[in-house]
Amino acid sequence: MEIKSAKFTVSNQDYTKCPPPNLPEFAFIGRSNVGKSSLINCLCKQKKLAKTSSQPGKTQLINHFNINDIWYLVDLPGYGYARVSKKSRSAFGKMITDYIFNRTNLMVVFVLIDSRIPPQKIDIEFINELGENQIPFALIFTKADKLTNNEVAKNTAAFKKALKQHWEELPPSFITSSETGLGRDEVLNYISEAIPLFK
Ligand code: GTP
Ligand code: MG
Repeated sequence: MEIKSAKFTVSNQDYTKCPPPNLPEFAFIGRSNVGKSSLINCLCKQKKLAKTSSQPGKTQLINHFNINDIWYLVDLPGYGYARVSKKSRSAFGKMITDYIFNRTNLMVVFVLIDSRIPPQKIDIEFINELGENQIPFALIFTKADKLTNNEVAKNTAAFKKALKQHWEELPPSFITSSETGLGRDEVLNYISEAIPLFK
């Protein structure tokens, strides 16, 4: 799939105010600063579509982008940064969990993992929560340009091994770099294969 048009639609704090759920939707989530907004810009080949920053916590809202008038791409705030409300039903912030658990047109949640670091408890916990709630998801290892291929292989294997302690089956996974475009076509192909499954 090529992205011919990518248009910012709306930003929200609340999933009930998101656009009508009449198009298939794909969301990008992960710890603050993992590279969600950069990856979205890379996928769309636009430098400033989603706001990026070297400071964590840049994305604070649920941001919808209309792609080719056939699907929504969603940039979510990072977890592990926003202050967590005591009332929230998980450690990941009510805005994020309400969105993920209630958005009826959500096809896949892409969970971004920093390929440079050992498995992080917060990422494993987030993935376990998705799995336990039967939310379809895939993994995207980011910033691969900052490592050698061997280091990427070692770190992604360590992450998968950590998941294997909890799950028999592993989710689909992609290795990406927003700097070089590595993995871009693979992620877009995966999305285009999922779109026809939208009911
Ligand atoms: P929040 O919105 O704060 O949750 O962060 P985010 O996950 O959207 O991260 P963002 O895309 O803003 O990127 C954070 C920093 O990492 C920025 O300085 C980016 O330039 C850098 N970065 C993101 N992706 C890559 C990548 O693939 N390679 C390299 N070298 N740097 C990257
Ligand atoms: Mg962001």
